[in-house]
Amino acid sequence: MAVVRLAFVGAGRMARTHMRNALSIEEVEVVGVCDVDRGRAEEAAKIAGTKAFLSVDELIREGKPDAAVVSVPPFAHGEEVDLKLVRAGVNLFVEKPVALSLEVAFRVLEALRAKELVGAVGYHWRYWETTREAKWLLEDKEVVFAGGTWQGGIYHPSWWRRREKSGGQVVEQTTHIFDLVRHLVGEIRRVYSLRRRGVVRDIPDYDIDDATVVAMECGDGVPVVVTSTCVLDFGHKVGLSVITRKMVVEVGVGRLSVIESGHRLEKVARNDPYADELRAFVEAVREGNPEGVLCPYDEGVKTLAATLAAIESAEEGRPLEVKGVT
Ligand SMILES: NC(=O)c1ccc[n+]([C@@H]2O[C@H](COP(=O)([O-])OP(=O)(O)OC[C@H]3O[C@@H](n4cnc5c(N)ncnc54)[C@H](O)[C@@H]3O)[C@@H](O)[C@H]2O)c1
Repeated sequence: MAVVRLAFVGAGRMARTHMRNALSIEEVEVVGVCDVDRGRAEEAAKIAGTKAFLSVDELIREGKPDAAVVSVPPFAHGEEVDLKLVRAGVNLFVEKPVALSLEVAFRVLEALRAKELVGAVGYHWRYWETTREAKWLLEDKEVVFAGGTWQGGIYHPSWWRRREKSGGQVVEQTTHIFDLVRHLVGEIRRVYSLRRRGVVRDIPDYDIDDATVVAMECGDGVPVVVTSTCVLDFGHKVGLSVITRKMVVEVGVGRLSVIESGHRLEKVARNDPYADELRAFVEAVREGNPEGVLCPYDEGVKTLAATLAAIESAEEGRPLEVKGVT
């Protein structure tokens, strides 16, 4: 197809970034913006020079999209959004996490497969040129162990601090690091987690964990630990260090450090991973070939499975196997 008729579902902060990028792609026509919040839908539609909708049904009927960018909060995925779009034959770019339950994620995956549609997930870390270089560097190395972290504050929307709406920091935010572990080290097979609660007492409605430490077994037996906290009021440290026999490869926010005896190389990514992930999705839809998509939907489901197992492990106080996706 020459031009992709692209719709937006969810018109919040993340959608604005995707919309800006979509508007710069010549082969995209934005055919509608849908949000349950009328003000947001209308404001975003005005920016894109398109129509605002309050329901996905209306968006599908009137906008006739080929593809949609879904940037709704984690709890909103499922029957009313993703499944309606897929059943109508709409290719999906979905923000992470793909859902809050594996049951929903599997249903969307099955529907995408049945309709032979492109499904992509916004794990944009995979698109930084520095992450790509890390992947290339690690390809022929034996990983000894790895350590990742996300240390920062509480993300601003009110749904974020409610566990039943966001899943908590591990499921909603540190999911980027879990995905990086899967991408650079290997499949997360087993998890054992500890958590801290009750430190944040001054934020209304806050019921998520303050800190989590997740030990995991990855690939063919590589130990990895991923820690998270959202108790700070500033962004402190985010990234993953991968230790090989004689080299440390550290991936940060658009950064790469390669450390060897007597030598340290620092790189800063020059590309915009959000622009690149959207372009890869649009190209995949246009060409009917998903090869350029670095995080297909099934990968997003596997990352969700690992984060959900991590949360469950903390709750049950025992190690758990991660449920696989075939
Ligand atoms: N990849 C990244 O770096 C990154 C960064 C920020 C957010 N995100 C992800 O993007 C998603 C959205 O986050 P955000 O920051 O834009 O949140 P937000 O709260 O700013 O926006 C979400 C929007 O979705 C709308 N919405 C809720 N339910 C809906 C429904 N059923 N149909 C249509 N619209 C609905 C809300 O009204 C709101 O306008 C989350 O999954 C988040 O994890 C990703």
